[in-house]
Amino acid sequence: MKPTMNVEFCGVEFKNPVLTASGTFGFGREYSSFYDLSELGGICIKGITPKKRIGNPPPRIAETPMGILNSVGLQNPGIDAFISEELPFLKQFDTRVIANISGNTVSEYCEMAEKISDSQVDLIEMNISCPNVKAGGMAFGTSSSMVFDVVSETKKYAKKPLVVKLSPNVTDITEIAVAAENAGASGLSLINTILGMRIDIKTKRPILHQNTGGLSGPAVLPIAIRMVYQVKKAVKIPLIGMGGISCGNDAVEMMLAGASLVSVGTACFSNPMAPIEVRDGIQKYLEDCKRSSVHDLCGGLIEY
Ligand SMILES: Cc1cc2nc3c(=O)[nH]c(=O)nc-3n(C[C@H](O)[C@H](O)[C@H](O)COP(=O)(O)O)c2cc1C
Repeated sequence: MKPTMNVEFCGVEFKNPVLTASGTFGFGREYSSFYDLSELGGICIKGITPKKRIGNPPPRIAETPMGILNSVGLQNPGIDAFISEELPFLKQFDTRVIANISGNTVSEYCEMAEKISDSQVDLIEMNISCPNVKAGGMAFGTSSSMVFDVVSETKKYAKKPLVVKLSPNVTDITEIAVAAENAGASGLSLINTILGMRIDIKTKRPILHQNTGGLSGPAVLPIAIRMVYQVKKAVKIPLIGMGGISCGNDAVEMMLAGASLVSVGTACFSNPMAPIEVRDGIQKYLEDCKRSSVHDLCGGLIEY
């Protein structure tokens, strides 16, 4: 018998635990020529802001060993264009849609949460951890008192489950996680990218126009696993784990550390089929271990 793959997360049923990570999957259109998006557990959209943003000037991607550094800077068409032009496309598919929202101020987060709650999205992911811009910036996500304030205010306007996306660019991620939980977050997602920098030794200039950017991809997997493990012990709300997942075994590790759902990001750039392969890899792991359900994985770590 095949293991069951469905997961309930914040009261929402997912057909399988594999999502795409915000900013690495656009609004799904480009990937829909590779496979039926209904195969996915869910799609997390590119981060949206109250108004259209063109993002940072190029160069805004730098290659690194085992990952990439980006400083895209929340390029997006704005919340209204997302709701009228992109959401109807995504709703053709039998998969969950997670809106990723970013703001410059507490009131912008509230305004976005209110507006997006009236749309057909299933969950709201609040990005308070983007290292590349002020909007959605780490300014909010790196102080527990500011996290508490912005999450508790936004929660008043969110009529859908509110997932708070945490920054790894902090000394103690559990403090931030607890602040978000105390403020009423329904769930947490982690990790966003890790602040990094590269320099072109010929020109002596930073490779990225913004000087610094966010590191993602396989290089960050062990950091993400460690943070999910720590946060799982610190809070009761469920977690979405991401950071460097590119195969089923990476996802199994993330789930054993404490994630209920997993997201695949940078891996999609080099292998558009990565989320499907991750899903199939989780299923194969369960079959090989003769487990009947993916639920058996979350937090199943056996410590020394
Ligand atoms: C090019 C790029 C753009 C991203 N844009 C967003 C974004 O708009 N909002 C957000 O919350 N995270 C954004 N992220 C972070 C990812 O969603 C994810 O948290 C991070 O890349 C770690 O996962 P990965 O190693 O699988 O890519 C972006 C990442 C990349 C590489």
